[in-house]
Amino acid sequence: MQANYMICNCKQVSYIDIANALESHTKFENVLEVFEDIQRQTHCSTGCGGCHQKVLDTISEIMMGK
Ligand code: FES
Repeated sequence: MQANYMICNCKQVSYIDIANALESHTKFENVLEVFEDIQRQTHCSTGCGGCHQKVLDTISEIMMGK
């Protein structure tokens, strides 16, 4: 996925924003817990909510690659 690929249009959060926000996460156990933290940091998925699954998929993809 491209770094500037927009994951959340409402809040203008791109793939790289999520990757950066995930930097402090080393272990991956509960995707929803990680999601909440990423949401706090980037405010993604706080608008229409339509990107929720896309954010979850992006978190999983990045964390699996670590
Ligand atoms: S696209 Fe992310 S909240 Fe609307």
